[in-house]
Amino acid sequence: MYLRVAAVLLVVFAAVGHSIICYESDNTGLVHEVNNASWSYCALIPPMTSRPVTGRVFGVGPNNDWTEAYDHTFGLKDRYYNILSICILEKYDFRTLSPQFTNHSPEFLFRCVCNYDRCNHANTFSAYINAVEMENQ
Ligand SMILES: *[C@@H]1O[C@H](CO)[C@@H](O)[C@H](O)[C@H]1NC(C)=O
Repeated sequence: MYLRVAAVLLVVFAAVGHSIICYESDNTGLVHEVNNASWSYCALIPPMTSRPVTGRVFGVGPNNDWTEAYDHTFGLKDRYYNILSICILEKYDFRTLSPQFTNHSPEFLFRCVCNYDRCNHANTFSAYINAVEMENQ
């Protein structure tokens, strides 16, 4: 009985995330401060001049990102060492899923995540790196 209650609590905790305040861009490019209980990290897609991708900020949790990978990596810290941000470059190749996607090129997605309130407030990659370093002096 107690084990079952503990298991249910664990599942609820995992699904809810830890709650964090993040900046979030809306469809018009305006940025709002948002507190969403399902988020555990704030994310930034920096704008890049080399491709038609506008920058975007948002929050992520277990419902909309693979946060277990972040949980593990941010946990690799000790008295002298801290991971302040994780940036990930992903490739999605849907051609391996179905012949329907034969003509699709792979998609590449880049983003950085950080783990404290409002840590994604910068709007360029270099401003983000500088801000995260400043805020963790
Ligand atoms: C919280 O964030 C999730 C994932 O980004 C989203 O689906 C949901 O609508 C948001 N909830 C609120 C109240 O904004």
